[in-house]
Amino acid sequence: MSSRIPGFYKLSVEERRRVVHAAAGLEEDKARDAALASGADVGLLDQFVENVVGGFSLPLGIAVNFVVDGEDVLVPMAVEESSVVAAASNMARLIRNTGGFRTKVLEDRMIGQVQISDVPDLEAAEAAIADRETEIIRRANELDPRLVEAGGGCTGIEIRPFEASVTGTTNNLVIHLLVNTVDAMGANAVNTMCESLAPDLASWSGGQVGLRILSNLADRRRYSAECRVRAEDIAVGSLSGSEVVRRIVSAANFACWDPYRATTHNKGIMNGIDPVVVATGNDWRAVEAGAHSFAAKGGQYRSMSEWWLDEQGDLCGRLELPMQVGILGGVTRLHPMARFSLELMGVKKAGELARIILSVGLAQNLGALRALATEGIQKGHMRLHQRNIALADETDGSSSSS
Ligand code: MEV
Repeated sequence: MSSRIPGFYKLSVEERRRVVHAAAGLEEDKARDAALASGADVGLLDQFVENVVGGFSLPLGIAVNFVVDGEDVLVPMAVEESSVVAAASNMARLIRNTGGFRTKVLEDRMIGQVQISDVPDLEAAEAAIADRETEIIRRANELDPRLVEAGGGCTGIEIRPFEASVTGTTNNLVIHLLVNTVDAMGANAVNTMCESLAPDLASWSGGQVGLRILSNLADRRRYSAECRVRAEDIAVGSLSGSEVVRRIVSAANFACWDPYRATTHNKGIMNGIDPVVVATGNDWRAVEAGAHSFAAKGGQYRSMSEWWLDEQGDLCGRLELPMQVGILGGVTRLHPMARFSLELMGVKKAGELARIILSVGLAQNLGALRALATEGIQKGHMRLHQRNIALADETDGSSSSS
């Protein structure tokens, strides 16, 4: 089999599919062909990326019972893992007994980085850039008047000098443009600003233009979600609610001091976050990168969430993360499932979407901790897993007999 297929990109989707089947020696399979073509209009998918042969569908489940900032919301989750949608829905049911999730926008700006290398005098360059802050902001905003009209735009800069003696390279000045991208994820707006301003930033610093790109450590675009669960609502089998609360707090503490546990704990949080990000056509790699990097900001990788006991003995949780998602532009508007997901939630602002996403992350984390701290996850997980194995056996059986 050769992976060298000249002109592959010029073929139609159907032709590519035929060529790929032949190249890999796959037998004709009508069911698989139909599946490849399903999910969305393949002609539309063909415009998103290169060399398209079909679509890849994930189950889209709806998490129920969510109340976020006093509003009921049905949450679409595109995910292949059994028990994720059920666990989020179950925990949201307990949390709605105390009024649901309370969320906050902590900061609302993306960061664009311009690297200037070979800066001869870092102190002088820093002063020269700081003196021009107003001009830099004005020039950045001239590039995107529609963003400014929508209430956003560049609102400030940060200047970060890195001395050669510390970095082992040349002197670098890294300039951050802080940009409110309103309802867009904002990569295009921010990258355009960085690329356009870089030559002047280099000339004012006396250095060379280096990289010009947004930072996915979007810690200036942060949100938080909090919740409370009554102890009596969280009992499991013969374990009392207060015992379960005690065990959950202890499990959460484990993730605060051990990075091995923190990674799995945080994966459980992302089990709630990613499916909503995917369902709304957002860039889940950006969200993942930002979330994990934020969790390591203090120098050690830690839990993204906190869980504690309040004076009444009830369980309280909080999650704070960067969230770089949009409801405008690209796939969010073009993909019919992404449009459906946004309409289902009725979100009118990117910030509302971010706040729902954080709430689902917190619910998912609670579901995992509650299971782990009591009966373990295998009992519920295996029940659903068995169903998948039975399905796979059936599918294998039917394809081998056809
Ligand atoms: C499995 O997908 C997620 C968990 O491992 C999360 C956790 O351990 O907290 C159950």
